[in-house]
Amino acid sequence: MSKVALVTGGSRGIGAAIATALKSAGYTVAANYAGNDDAAAKFTAETGIKTYKWNVADYDASKAGIAQVEADLGPIDIVVANAGITRDAPFHKMTPEQWHQVIDTNLTGVFNTVHPIWPGMRERKFGRVVVISSINGQKGQFAQVNYAATKAGDLGIVKSLAQEGARAGITANAICPGYIATEMVMAVPEKVRDSIIAGIPAGRLGEPEEIARCVVFLVSDDAGFINGSTISANGAQFFV
Ligand code: CAA
Repeated sequence: MSKVALVTGGSRGIGAAIATALKSAGYTVAANYAGNDDAAAKFTAETGIKTYKWNVADYDASKAGIAQVEADLGPIDIVVANAGITRDAPFHKMTPEQWHQVIDTNLTGVFNTVHPIWPGMRERKFGRVVVISSINGQKGQFAQVNYAATKAGDLGIVKSLAQEGARAGITANAICPGYIATEMVMAVPEKVRDSIIAGIPAGRLGEPEEIARCVVFLVSDDAGFINGSTISANGAQFFV
């Protein structure tokens, strides 16, 4: 039986590329999404990957959604916490609502996603957790106090989970994508985006598939001794 993988935010952007790459690599994949029914239906029609709707910011909804995935497909062996949002604003204009929305989705959402799956991974003595962080969690970003805080926090989650899971055959790793050609980056004003691209030594945005291939490697048996790591994939824009 093939291993079961869950990708949150898996019907669009980087998440869709990850879900598709995992399916191509032979895994049984479930893609979670929060709200865009049309995009999810299109994604399922194109890929044959089942989609499940819940809000990762809601613990009870996450627990129920994960229980449904496991009832349909079997115990989850691989979880990719990818779902994330931006609510960019310079700090002096950032509202508490913008702060909380991003914290609830990008940081608490990782807790809500991994926590219900973790006991089963411990029991079965196998698990792969991959959290999609960001270059902006490593270097900070103008107008992203909220987002950068969550993406830095995600690295703390991974480093702690790695230590807790190691003896139970579970690895937890993070990927920090740089600027990738997705709707999220395309939403940045064109002038700002051009100046961002000018600052990437590779001279281009990354492709979602370039992140997906990192995930496929991290969840493989070959990567069993890689635990608590952060892989940067950013076209040489920033080094830790
Ligand atoms: N560095 C320094 N100054 C900057 C700046 C930057 N990166 N970006 C904007 N500014 C300056 C502007 O030039 C402007 O200066 P002036 O007032 O002197 O003209 C000022 O900051 C912006 O003031 P505004 O009042 O016009 O700002 P606003 O309230 O309209 O907000 C913004 C505009 C939200 C900051 C917009 O410029 C923006 O979205 N910037 C992009 C932020 C960004 O990079 N987000 C990353 C999204 S992609 C992602 O998050 C994925 C990932 O993981 C990599």
